[in-house]
Amino acid sequence: MCGIVGYTGPREAGPILMEGLRRLEYRGYDSAGIALVDDQGDLFVEKRAGKLSNLATAIAERTPHAAVGLAHTRWATHGRPSDVNAHPQVDCTGRITVIHNGIIENFQELRDGLEARGHRLLSETDTEAIAHLIEEAYDGDIAEAARKTLQQLEGAYALAVMHRDENDRLVGARKDVPLVVGLGEGESFLASDVAAILAHTRRVIFLEEGDVADLRPEGVTITDVQGRPVERVPETIEWTVEAAEKGGYDTFMLKEIHEQPLALRQSITGRITRAGRIEVPELEPVWGAVRTATRVELVACGTASYAAMIGAAAIQSVTGLPARVTVGSEFRYDPPPLDEHTLVIAVTQSGETADTIAPTRLARERGCPIIAVTNTVGSAITREADAVLFLQAGPEMAVAASKTFVTQVTTLVILAAGLAKLRGTLSSGDESQLVEALRALPAGAERALELNEHVAAGLARRYVNSRGFMFVGRGPTYPAALEGALKLKEISYVHAEGYPAGELKHGPISLLDAEYPLVAVATRSPTYDKLISNVMEGRARDARVIAVGTEGDDGLGRIADDVCWVPDTHELLSPVLSIIPLQLFAYHVALERGTDVDQPRNLAKSVTVE
Ligand code: F6R
Repeated sequence: MCGIVGYTGPREAGPILMEGLRRLEYRGYDSAGIALVDDQGDLFVEKRAGKLSNLATAIAERTPHAAVGLAHTRWATHGRPSDVNAHPQVDCTGRITVIHNGIIENFQELRDGLEARGHRLLSETDTEAIAHLIEEAYDGDIAEAARKTLQQLEGAYALAVMHRDENDRLVGARKDVPLVVGLGEGESFLASDVAAILAHTRRVIFLEEGDVADLRPEGVTITDVQGRPVERVPETIEWTVEAAEKGGYDTFMLKEIHEQPLALRQSITGRITRAGRIEVPELEPVWGAVRTATRVELVACGTASYAAMIGAAAIQSVTGLPARVTVGSEFRYDPPPLDEHTLVIAVTQSGETADTIAPTRLARERGCPIIAVTNTVGSAITREADAVLFLQAGPEMAVAASKTFVTQVTTLVILAAGLAKLRGTLSSGDESQLVEALRALPAGAERALELNEHVAAGLARRYVNSRGFMFVGRGPTYPAALEGALKLKEISYVHAEGYPAGELKHGPISLLDAEYPLVAVATRSPTYDKLISNVMEGRARDARVIAVGTEGDDGLGRIADDVCWVPDTHELLSPVLSIIPLQLFAYHVALERGTDVDQPRNLAKSVTVE
């Protein structure tokens, strides 16, 4: 996720802002920029792609004296990482600067309108449109102009805005993306997270949905978007800087698990129209190829390959095309038949996994149309693909994937619907059902996260000394079982297997006993009854049963020793919710065992070697 820092007060803004950006480097970024209004009232803006040191070098020796400014680290979502796409973005008059975290859903419409009204937009970003809209709305009061503009924006944002002619003032606003105000002695701060400002103040206000903050050195006033004052009580933060980087969580992984509702919201943003239709404009370069495709091959590794399994099932069910997944390392040396009618979908959060890139390249050489699904703008996979869908999940710091799994599943289901629409195989009733489920997904994830205490205090302690775990599922719940087992083994170093439940009796059932529990992903599905029969076979061998079930399924409560209930959703999206208690289970078992959750032994975040 991008980083925001803002300052207004008696001190030199430049060094405070650069230090704040350094504190935010851990969030990941691909470019950085700063805007300062100097003592003469001139606006100084500098932006650089790449590391913060590039920006530091560019402004060394020439940072103006300034008491107000904004700075940003960008993690690209619209437009590649470059100097011009970096923030701050500036309006036509060169007076208004904007920095922004999040995604503006209706940005194309806004940009088109602005261009038609004569504005010249220089970057490819959604953010630049905001600067020009504020320019149109400006009438001597930057907070008022910002509020008017916010009413035209759809999507998620944390924004910071500054006007050259009001040189002690900053405006911040939030919707769905965090933004915090820092209250100092005769100075005020704005930041995407407290880590950026903790060295200066511990008195903060976490802005709430729809808040607009008007910052001056002597204090801050907060209103809603209509300008009505709202009361927010400042709190005092006790966190260390290290804890602040993790948003107050003990680890990045726990933070990222809890970021899943926001990540899902961002992933879905821009892909459902106001009229409730699914839209995947990214597919335009492959429209023709999608219509004439006869097969779909997905290629991925690890967690991404489990998400791809759900994607393949979704594609097959809504398009009728045969679709299957092969892990990259196998595909590479034993590829399936490939030609221009084979649509290849590469799924990789980092976009740099060598085992996924090599087979994609091979498929490209054989003439296959390629779609990439990745979290990383500018990554290697994007250069191999004809069309790219970004997860929009924000950077993931913990080695074990969490928010990128749920956004991969969601994006692939949206992609499946997009393909089906192009081929005319998605009925409008089925589309509406999917849209309804997608819209409810972030709230469902929030509910599933309420299981944290239950899993920490109950399940993890009760089962931590088990000899191993057998995760099972059937149909769409099977990939969730595989991912649950992978999470557990990679961060807790406990052996865990993922199996299709029907296979238990063909061998692995011999492992089960009172010390080897069965973890059943038993959410609602067409094969639910079959799965329950398999679970009963395990019980008959004394295995204790931990289940993930759909709220309201009382029968499951009578069969399992422990159940984590998750809200009902569309069958294809059920792994997005059922994986959450399994992530928490893996996490808390690992904590009980004292392992390094964020950096498990022998693993790397991005596997760029074969
Ligand atoms: C597991 C995990 C790995 C990755 C795999 C592929 O938690 O993170 O299994 O999923 O190495 O990585 P990407 O998606 O970057 O290609």
